[in-house]
Amino acid sequence: MKQVVYRNYGDSDVLKVEEVDKPEIGKKNSVLVKVSNSSLNAIDWKNRKGNFRLVSGLFSPKTKQGFDVVGIIEEKSNDVEHFSIGDRIVALLGNRTGGALSEYIVLKTDNIVKISNEIPPKQVAGIPMAGITAWLALMKLGGLKKNDKVLINGGSSGVGHLAIQIAKAYGAEVTSVSSTKNLDFCKKLGADFTISYQDEDFLELPSTFDIIFDVVFNASYHQTQHLLSQSGIYIGTTPTANMIKELIRYKRAKFVAVHPNKEALQDLMDLMHEKKLKVAIDKEFLLSDIVNAHDYIEESRTVGKVIINVEDVLNPPVLSRIPE
Ligand SMILES: NC(=O)c1ccc[n+]([C@@H]2O[C@H](COP(=O)([O-])OP(=O)(O)OC[C@H]3O[C@@H](n4cnc5c(N)ncnc54)[C@H](OP(=O)(O)O)[C@@H]3O)[C@@H](O)[C@H]2O)c1
Repeated sequence: MKQVVYRNYGDSDVLKVEEVDKPEIGKKNSVLVKVSNSSLNAIDWKNRKGNFRLVSGLFSPKTKQGFDVVGIIEEKSNDVEHFSIGDRIVALLGNRTGGALSEYIVLKTDNIVKISNEIPPKQVAGIPMAGITAWLALMKLGGLKKNDKVLINGGSSGVGHLAIQIAKAYGAEVTSVSSTKNLDFCKKLGADFTISYQDEDFLELPSTFDIIFDVVFNASYHQTQHLLSQSGIYIGTTPTANMIKELIRYKRAKFVAVHPNKEALQDLMDLMHEKKLKVAIDKEFLLSDIVNAHDYIEESRTVGKVIINVEDVLNPPVLSRIPE
C-alpha cells in the first residue's frame, strides 16, 4: 500500500510516497480502515520541519504524517461489536503516532466515530484535528454558554472557521478577526461582527469578551486581559515560553492541547448532521501530490481546510468553499 514517509526533517521534498506493507489487524479492539480522505493541519508541516522534536522524535522523525482519518472499515477483530465491516468512520490520531496519509491504517475503536452516508467524506476529513481543537477550546476550556461573547482571532483558519460555527451553534455572539479579503467568508460562517486586522487592532476594541480564542496566537493573556469580562478566559494554541509562564501565573490563561476525544468528535458529527457545521474546502490534493500540498499549507494563507484525497472513488464532486 502507499504511505507518505519521511526519514529526515526538512523542506517538503523530504516527503516521499512509498510502497509499504499493509498493516495487520490487532487481536483485540481493532479495525483495519481503508482511508479515503485526510486533511492537512499546521502540525504536519511543523512536524516535517522538526519544530516539535520532543514529540515527533529528537534526531529523526518517529511520528508518521497526517492525523485526520476518514475511511471504511474493511476488517475487524472478533471482539469488536459496535462497528461493522463497511462502516464509514472518522478519527483523530494521537500526536505521538500519526499515519493518516496512508491507504490503510489499523485503529483501536476507542476514539472512532461512525459517519452517516449523508455527509460527504471530504467534508468530514476537515474536522478531526481542527474541529476537536476548536471544540475543546470553546466547550471544555472556555465553558461556552448561550449568549457568551466570543472573539476568535484567525476566523478564516482551519481551526478558526470551525470555531466560529461551533460558537454560533451553541448560541454565542461571535466577533472574528481576519484579513480584509476574508471578512465576508467569516460573516457567511455566522460571525456577528468581523474585524480586519489590516484596518483595526482588536486589542483596542471597546468591548469585553467571555472567551478570547487566539487561534493564530499573535497576542497573549497579558495583552488581552483588558478585553476579558470578569470571568473571561484567554485561550492560546502554541506552547511558547511566554504561554507556559502565563499558564502558571494566571488562572484565566489557558492553552488548548488537542488529543483524540470521542465526545468532541461525536458532537461535531452531530452538528454537521444538523447542518450547523460545514468544512470550507480551500483546496484538494491527491496523496501523490503531498509535496505541493505541504508547500501550500506552509504558507499559512489557507481559507478553511486543505483536503487530501487518498482514494478518490468514494467522493462526490468538490464542494463550494464558502458554506451556504
Ligand atoms: N495546541 C493545539 O492543540 C493546536 C491544534 C491545532 C492547531 N494549533 C495551532 O493553531 C494555529 C492555527 O492552525 P490552523 O490549522 O487553523 O492554521 P491555518 O489554517 O494554516 O491558518 C491560516 C489562516 O490564518 C489566517 N491568518 C494569518 N495571520 C493572521 C492574523 N494576523 N490574524 C488573523 N488571521 C490570520 C490566514 O488568513 P490571511 O492570510 O487572510 O491572514 C489563514 O486563513 C497554528 O499555529 C497551529 O499550529 C494548535
